[in-house]
Amino acid sequence: MSSTTANFRRVDGHLLIEQVPLTAIAARFGTPCYVYSRAQLVRNWQAYDSAFGARAHRIHYAVKANGNLALLQVLHQLGSGFDIVSGGELARTLAAGAVGADLVFSGVGKSRAELIAALQTGIGCINIESAAELDRLADVAKQLSCRAPVAFRVNPDVDPKTHPYISTGLEQNKFGVPISEASTLYRAAAALPQIEIKGIACHIGSQLTELAPIADTVHRIVDLALRLEAEGISLAHLDLGGGLGIRYQDENPPSFAAYVDTLCRIPERFEIHIEPGRSIVGDAGVLLTTVEYLKLTATRHFAICDAAMTELIRPALYEAWHDVEPLAPAGGAAVLASYDLVGPVCESADFLAHGRQLALQSGSQLALMNAGAYGFAMASNYNARPRPPEVLVDGENAHEIRARETWAGLMVGERMLG
Ligand code: LLP
Repeated sequence: MSSTTANFRRVDGHLLIEQVPLTAIAARFGTPCYVYSRAQLVRNWQAYDSAFGARAHRIHYAVKANGNLALLQVLHQLGSGFDIVSGGELARTLAAGAVGADLVFSGVGKSRAELIAALQTGIGCINIESAAELDRLADVAKQLSCRAPVAFRVNPDVDPKTHPYISTGLEQNKFGVPISEASTLYRAAAALPQIEIKGIACHIGSQLTELAPIADTVHRIVDLALRLEAEGISLAHLDLGGGLGIRYQDENPPSFAAYVDTLCRIPERFEIHIEPGRSIVGDAGVLLTTVEYLKLTATRHFAICDAAMTELIRPALYEAWHDVEPLAPAGGAAVLASYDLVGPVCESADFLAHGRQLALQSGSQLALMNAGAYGFAMASNYNARPRPPEVLVDGENAHEIRARETWAGLMVGERMLG
């Protein structure tokens, strides 16, 4: 198996997560179902943390990758902070035990209501993405009689060499303020009594597999920090964003240690902040699915699964690859072929994988690997499909950390005309 980690292994042909066979999870909770390894989540977070050693740093887990309360709780207990992008994510992190000081608020379009809610928590930092947002934030802070801690999200115009839909640091992207305009904005912010400058933030993209663009970004951000300091604007931290890639197929992303080493080129007086999402939770989770039907046509072998783009949209949206692993040895009626795995949703883009050599029959159970990040988080109810349960495995125990949605539940809040 190419994509397994210590916490996913095969014993006598059966795929285990920690100590639990995934067939047992499928039997108990049904499919589709997301399953996460607590040990892998912890291991990833601690790998970042220990790579920094004594160097002053703060890890803000990017909640958008997977915002389940139990996962946030585990990370909070490890000492993680959180990167949030909405009032909804703010509410989730607080519910999981975080306090305002643990949070950084990113995002290109924060509403007034979201800024008010964030300031009321005593938030650690708000990453501003435009001059208009600075004005709005100063106004909101005045109304609340407080000072808003800020960094500007600067766009360093570096090509992250990733999929265009998840690249954010180029001048053409909607994110951040151009690095060429940053000094002017910092000067404007420094003159506002309601604003307290904390640092500089950036995020060049996601699923980064090369160190060079990261090193280039570090260089450009440090250069800006030194120029700002020379003007008397002092900065406590530099936030390099998230983005470290994971191995889905044959990528060779830098190790956490090599990545952190590159960040540690930042002068010691600045605290280093990072906002990883995918690299913390991605390889900690799988999506289980059952083959409903085989449909063998003259040109294609379709395995029609009970999971769809509604549970894992990454293949349809980014042509992303997820390894497919059978949960158990093939049954006697299995047909060995090259399959397209598709779901029941009424869209031709509804596929999970193309051309996979597998021995399948109706009832075969499969795991889509590396589905812990941007799996459930991007799931939808399209075609009135209830979202699957989420299960967190801890050693021998499996905890249902989100119940399967129900058909009736999908209609809650709707009103027919009287
Ligand atoms: N910080 C900021 C400001 C971000 O925009 C993001 C991700 C992160 C941190 C976390 O990045 P990560 O470590 O997870 O790469 N749905 C896409 C990924 C979109 C990422 C958007 N921003 C996917 O499934 O590949």
